[in-house]
Amino acid sequence: MEKLLCPSMMCANFGNLEQEVRELEEAGIDIFHLDVMDGQFVPNFGMGLQDITYVCRQASVPVDVHLMIENPGNYVELYISLGARILYVHPESEVHVTRTLQKIRDKGAEAGIAVNPGTAVATIKPLLPFVSYVMVMGVNPGFAGQSYLDPVNEKIEELVGLKTQYGFRLMLDGACSPERIARLNQVGVDGFVLGTSALFGEKDTYREIILRLREL
Ligand code: DX5
Ligand code: ZN
Repeated sequence: MEKLLCPSMMCANFGNLEQEVRELEEAGIDIFHLDVMDGQFVPNFGMGLQDITYVCRQASVPVDVHLMIENPGNYVELYISLGARILYVHPESEVHVTRTLQKIRDKGAEAGIAVNPGTAVATIKPLLPFVSYVMVMGVNPGFAGQSYLDPVNEKIEELVGLKTQYGFRLMLDGACSPERIARLNQVGVDGFVLGTSALFGEKDTYREIILRLREL
C-alpha cells in the first residue's frame, strides 16, 4: 500500500490558508493533520475551531484531528461536527479510553490513538481492537521542530508485528524527515505526519517535495 502523507497544518502559512490547502491537495497529499492542544496535556496551543472548520470545508481529502488535550471524550462530537474524519486521542489523557474510542466510531469517524514516547506497547495493546490507526509520537507532543527520539524505533517494530492481527494502520508523528520516512516505510510504517522536517519551510514547491517523498 502506498504510504500516507499527512501535512501537519499547524506548520502551514496561516497568511494564506486557502492557498496552502489548495496547493497541498494539488501536490497529492492524503490526509490533513490538525493538531489541537489545550495547554494542559501539552504546554502549548494548536489550531483553533475556526481553523479546523475552515480546513474541513476547503479540503476534498480526509482531515484528521490530533487531540493533545485532557479528557478528549468530552469533545468527540464537536470535532466530528466540524468535519474531522479521523480522531486521534492520547490514552494518557483519558481514564476511559475504550469508551471514547467506541464513541468516535459510533459517531461515524475513524478512531486512532496517539502514543507518547514514554508509553509502552503493552499499555496500549488492549486498545488495538478499537482503533483503525495507531500514531506513534516520534517526539514529545506539542511542538514542531524537535529532534527524533530514537528509542521510539523499538516500539515501532513491536507495533509493526501487531498490524496484521489487529488490522490498524501505523503512523508516525514528529520529526518525519525524508531519510526517516524512507527507512521506516521499509520497516512497515504506513503513514507520516509532515511538518518542518520534510515539508514546510523548504525552498521547493509542495508538489516537488511530495513527488520526491512518494518515490522514497
Ligand atoms: C508534534 C506535532 C507535529 C509534528 C510537526 O506534536 O504533532 O505537527 O511534530 O512536524 P516536525 O516535527 O517535522 O516539525
Ligand atoms: Zn500531531
